[in-house]
Amino acid sequence: MRRHIKNNVSWVGYIDWELEKFHGDDYSIMNGSSQNAYLIEEGKNILVDTVWTPHRFNFVENLKKEIDLKKIDAIIANHGECDHSGSLTALMAEIPDTPIYCTANAVKSIEGQYRKQGWNFNVVKTGDTLDIGNGKKLIFVEMRMLHWPDSMATYMTGDNILFSNDAFGQHYAVEELFNDKANQCLLNKEAMKYFANILNPFAAILTKKLEEIGKLNLSIDIIAPSHGAIWRDNPLQIVKKYSEWANAYQENQVTIIYDTMWEGTTKIAHAIASEAAKQNPETVVKVFNIAKADKNEIMTEIFKSKAIALGSPTVSNSILSSVAGLIEFAKQLKFKNKKAAAFGCYGWSGESVKILQEKLKDSGFNVVDENIKSMWVPTEEDYEKIPALVTALLA
Ligand code: FEO
Repeated sequence: MRRHIKNNVSWVGYIDWELEKFHGDDYSIMNGSSQNAYLIEEGKNILVDTVWTPHRFNFVENLKKEIDLKKIDAIIANHGECDHSGSLTALMAEIPDTPIYCTANAVKSIEGQYRKQGWNFNVVKTGDTLDIGNGKKLIFVEMRMLHWPDSMATYMTGDNILFSNDAFGQHYAVEELFNDKANQCLLNKEAMKYFANILNPFAAILTKKLEEIGKLNLSIDIIAPSHGAIWRDNPLQIVKKYSEWANAYQENQVTIIYDTMWEGTTKIAHAIASEAAKQNPETVVKVFNIAKADKNEIMTEIFKSKAIALGSPTVSNSILSSVAGLIEFAKQLKFKNKKAAAFGCYGWSGESVKILQEKLKDSGFNVVDENIKSMWVPTEEDYEKIPALVTALLA
């Protein structure tokens, strides 16, 4: 069912309260999500994006209740990823000649996924416009690498709506759709989690793009992303947050992350946390066992941190696979301006701390020399090294 957004613009997407994972199993969903599609009914009728492939038939059936599909004059495909393009096959089966406006890269991604169907693509680039009647037009803005090479945003004049696609979105289900109706803590948390886990690798590109959009001097009344809450109350608040988040963001937080085999490494982790809280009571201290915590939540906490300590025991001359996976993920996310220290127990060969330090450096962390390498179980001598490690991390 359509939901009214503004004047002749409606939401026609799908709110998914049951979704638990996204990007395969790579992104955890804690509070539902949505795929937002929009219907503009001005002089011309325009569909902005669709919904994920499993919902394609319901999407088309629901859309038919709102509009005679043959009266859709154009489809805007802001991004080719299948959570937004996945209903095109079902939709285009009904209206095969309808023009699809998208970037050149989106033609590649859409044809790559659904093969050449002979669809009527109209390639657009930044600054191109589409007149939609009633004195209004759509202006296209390429958002290359935010987060795919094919991404773009579409701005609607008159109503001043920015259909931003993935940018400014959240995996967060809000039945009432709008940001002022959402739980503000959850909204901020999910927006940050989305940024940290999906957009952070492209932070430098994002900063330039925000400057470029700022120079366009567009009045923005609503930012309508393709996931989660629609920003109608002070929509520029999320743009301001993106500017901060894209600039080597950190809070006064230290996060201790580890996995363990026989609890020795756990003891070091807790001792580091305790010492950090003692040395600097203003610093937020958090501790996560990788085997028991959600990796996307951990990444969000790393994103917020000014420093981390990462621990693994030595196993088979290396580190635990859970820790190796986590540090590989952190490398992908290209965190900046964060210190790191390594710790871990060992029984025989003891390579884990050195390997952790190398991997942390390789992942862009500023690694301090201080470390805790403990044979069998932590000794008093090991614990005595912890204050210096914490001091180096918090300095
Ligand atoms: Fe929501 Fe990149 O798709």
